[in-house]
Amino acid sequence: MKIIKTIKQMQAFSLKAKQSKKTIGFIPTMGYLHKGHLSLIKKSKKENDITVLSIFVNPTQFGPHEDFKKYPRDKKQDQLLAKKEEIHIIFYPSIKEMYPTDYLTSISVGDIENVLCGKTRPGHFKGVATIVAKLINTVTPSALYLGEKDAQQVVVIKTMAKDLNWRLNIKSLPIIREKDGLAMSSRNKYLSSDERKQAVCLYQSLKNTRKLIRAGERRSTKIYKQIKKIVLKNSRARIDYIACVDTKTLKEEKMISKKILIALAIFIGKTRLIDNITIDV
Ligand code: PAF
Repeated sequence: MKIIKTIKQMQAFSLKAKQSKKTIGFIPTMGYLHKGHLSLIKKSKKENDITVLSIFVNPTQFGPHEDFKKYPRDKKQDQLLAKKEEIHIIFYPSIKEMYPTDYLTSISVGDIENVLCGKTRPGHFKGVATIVAKLINTVTPSALYLGEKDAQQVVVIKTMAKDLNWRLNIKSLPIIREKDGLAMSSRNKYLSSDERKQAVCLYQSLKNTRKLIRAGERRSTKIYKQIKKIVLKNSRARIDYIACVDTKTLKEEKMISKKILIALAIFIGKTRLIDNITIDV
């Protein structure tokens, strides 16, 4: 396993790999790797000659009062895990490398940036789209692997790739969950043991929603009500949003009549957790 820290070296490596007709699978991450990331790595390893993992806590996707500074980082453990998975390259750039002082450009992906998580986190998806575009131009992969926990992120990146005519295979893989259903996330580390117990309400409410829809419920208002009831049974939870939206446009669906995404963001204490399911009626 090789660690590359500069854009120039990464681009040179990728160019060489391409000249030898090797395919590159790429997993962009902010580190603090968990089983969700590992599932993406395993898939890329299966499908490509070379797998590149990037670790970069991207400052531009955090709001001024968000957790950039305290976002969990564990370089040693990440390297151990990556080595175990037999990753070929970790791309580990510095902030200066990705955003030199004369850096000006950012990418905006229109309205889908400003709904769901984008409402509470203005500018977040601009930061995500910009860094992912920069990483793609640096690693030049044939395939990109993303986790479905960040459902809106997947839609933003797929839309950007389509709009910018990228020749890139984008694969999104299912959420990996803890035994009790909590979606794996680096931010779960913030939860106290009491909050960790409360956090199962996200998946419980989504599981119940699946049941309701299977039993014939189609009205999103009824679904929201049920989710709210389950989440608020847990008295210290605060709802950021609950949404029932089209899986591609992220536009709200009042009556469910096709494949939809039910997504939610809930504060457990100070920690904002997200989760989602897709249901095809
Ligand atoms: O999902 C993440 O970890 C980040 O948003 C990403 C895609 C690595 C961009 O910084």
